[in-house]
Amino acid sequence: MMAANAHRAGNLAEAERFFRMALQAVPTHAPALAMLGIVLAQQGRAAEGVSFLAQAVKHAPDYGNWFNYGLVLRAAGHADKAVQAFAKASKLHRAEPQAAWEAGVTLRGLDRLADAALAFDVVCQRDPGSPTPWIEAGRTHLAAGQAGPGLDRLREALRRFESDDDVCRAVCLALESVTFRRHDPAFQAALGRWAAMPDDKPVWFGGSLLGLLTLDPALMPVLAAARDGGGFADAAVTDGTLQPLFACQPLRNLMASDVLADPDFEILMLAVRRTLTRYVAGGQALAADAHAFLLGLALLADAGEFVLPEDDAVAGPAFALAESLAADIDTGMATERFAERLAVIGCHRPLVKLPVATRLAALALTTPDPLLARLLDVAVVDPLRERQLRGQVIQITAIEDEVSLAVAGQYDENPYPRWFNPPAVTPTRSDEWLRAAFPHAAFSPHALTPQRILVAGCGSGWQAFCTARLYPDAEILAVDLSLTNLAHALRAQEKFGFANVTFRRADIMRLGELGGSFDVIQSNGVLHHMGDPLAGWTALDSVLKPGGLMRIGLYSEVARRTLRVIEDFAKEHGFGGDAAGLRGFRAAALALPEDHPVRLVVRSKEFYSLSSLRDLAFHVNEHRFTIPGLAAALAQLDLTFIGFQLHHQLSASLYRNRYPDDPAQTDLGHWAAFEEDNPHTFAGCYDFWCAKPER
Ligand SMILES: C[S@@+](CC[C@H](N)C(=O)[O-])C[C@H]1O[C@@H](n2cnc3c(N)ncnc32)[C@H](O)[C@@H]1O
Repeated sequence: MMAANAHRAGNLAEAERFFRMALQAVPTHAPALAMLGIVLAQQGRAAEGVSFLAQAVKHAPDYGNWFNYGLVLRAAGHADKAVQAFAKASKLHRAEPQAAWEAGVTLRGLDRLADAALAFDVVCQRDPGSPTPWIEAGRTHLAAGQAGPGLDRLREALRRFESDDDVCRAVCLALESVTFRRHDPAFQAALGRWAAMPDDKPVWFGGSLLGLLTLDPALMPVLAAARDGGGFADAAVTDGTLQPLFACQPLRNLMASDVLADPDFEILMLAVRRTLTRYVAGGQALAADAHAFLLGLALLADAGEFVLPEDDAVAGPAFALAESLAADIDTGMATERFAERLAVIGCHRPLVKLPVATRLAALALTTPDPLLARLLDVAVVDPLRERQLRGQVIQITAIEDEVSLAVAGQYDENPYPRWFNPPAVTPTRSDEWLRAAFPHAAFSPHALTPQRILVAGCGSGWQAFCTARLYPDAEILAVDLSLTNLAHALRAQEKFGFANVTFRRADIMRLGELGGSFDVIQSNGVLHHMGDPLAGWTALDSVLKPGGLMRIGLYSEVARRTLRVIEDFAKEHGFGGDAAGLRGFRAAALALPEDHPVRLVVRSKEFYSLSSLRDLAFHVNEHRFTIPGLAAALAQLDLTFIGFQLHHQLSASLYRNRYPDDPAQTDLGHWAAFEEDNPHTFAGCYDFWCAKPER
């Protein structure tokens, strides 16, 4: 009794003492044996606890004891035996899902994915009213290469919990590595629904939805007609030819929120843009679906920064529509026709450049048409506000370095990354997250719960806001060279909050002059754009506290080999990084045969907006690193490598299987060999954490 009370009150040492006393009196008392094992595990002494649970199951082999034995075995590092214990428990109580669940989790940790999936299937049978088992079973079957059952479980989750947005989101996330081979209305609808949610989405998301839409029998005829080059006559707007396209809600949702990174859809959009421009410029009104589609087309043009080729056949009539806009506004016009005229112009040119831009901004608040409101918001209100904010950016260092000035110039012309939805809420605290991500690393306390963080080269604010999500209690200084990027960040801050971030204009090279010291520094995708990346890294190191942490992202020479081919092609053909050069490059790449190595670029999302294409392959200054080069730099700066932040779990498990002797995954020699054999591992960047020794 006293032991149980002490345990309930959280006094574990006291509880241990009482349970030991009870066992002195009755050494085979199964409840006391089990509780002592649990209490020991709760004090971080699972290895000691194992033998007591082993005795407990011997004397009382019931569900609870086998279940707890499994938990303590797992905590003590005996995952295989834990699985057996959970299996015993699961057999003893066939209605109870928890033991099967823990078996699944443990098996997944052991990379025994097919077995884990079967365990999650058992949980689905026993607890069908809860969405998590269906999603886990689906994800795990897919990870085990069992697409059929994986997709079935996910479909079942959608069917059973059809109005639950969280389930929809989780199912969509589980589809990451799925390539659909046939039309699938359930997943098409789910991805389309997710497109309309104001979440930030992973980079593969749009491609996944477009892949499905390509297989949709309702869209196939229009895609084929556009590909065959025939275009669409005006009659196609009303005779039903284009109706399946106009009515496709998943596609419309995607168009209103992202680029369409697919060459066939680009051809289709060009053809439909031409037809709708002609139609609306000819004075005709659209039905509801076509109206919504046209506004989506204008949003799409804005998201891609007018990356599509100009269309001389219809640009003239489109711009002629601009002449009547002021008169329309004067007459209190917010009619549908007005929205359509405006959208047609917005399909070809930035609306913010219209002489009536300020008057349009005022309309964003009053229009009853949500799509028009969104178009006005992103294409007029936000850019106008950014123009104002540009003049209010506070500069805290000189910017004189030649490369810094050139880089600032590039991002001022082509702000990057362009983003619209705020980062998702981080479910875990930073210290828990870091400990879980790098369980073998030693961290200083101030690195785990930092007070001051520097985001060096924060771009348009995205990374700073992600950091603010993870560290809500820290004070974050985010610096960048580019006024346009910083204005975007400040505007986003007005919209989304994140009051703990301060944005300033500064050159990393001069940060040492400010004398600040930070617990954590993050710099992703930045140092490789400096004249001397190691000098930049040294400047960052000079403002990092002893024991502090850095998260750095650097381009990989190996991963970017294919890009070198693309860059050489662009140079050879004289395509520069200005809008004309980028459009010229795009046209040339799209005209290449499918098997040409440069043609690969048309499959990347970056190909579908001007600034991301420039950042990808037309940068004014770019260095690339190798893993041995990285190791040398870390040694020179006396920084300890903590580990890579891997963007695909598969890489971690492949590495684990190949190098079981390196559980911390910190051997850079091994990683160099691994990358040679898996050249896409660091396709984004070498994204890694390193620490400065305590003095
Ligand atoms: C590719 S963007 C990355 C932005 C951001 N870190 C992210 O991951 O979204 C590179 C940014 O680094 C900034 N940058 C490059 N050199 C810099 C320097 N010397 N000082 C400050 N910022 C710099 C550029 O202005 C640009 O905004």
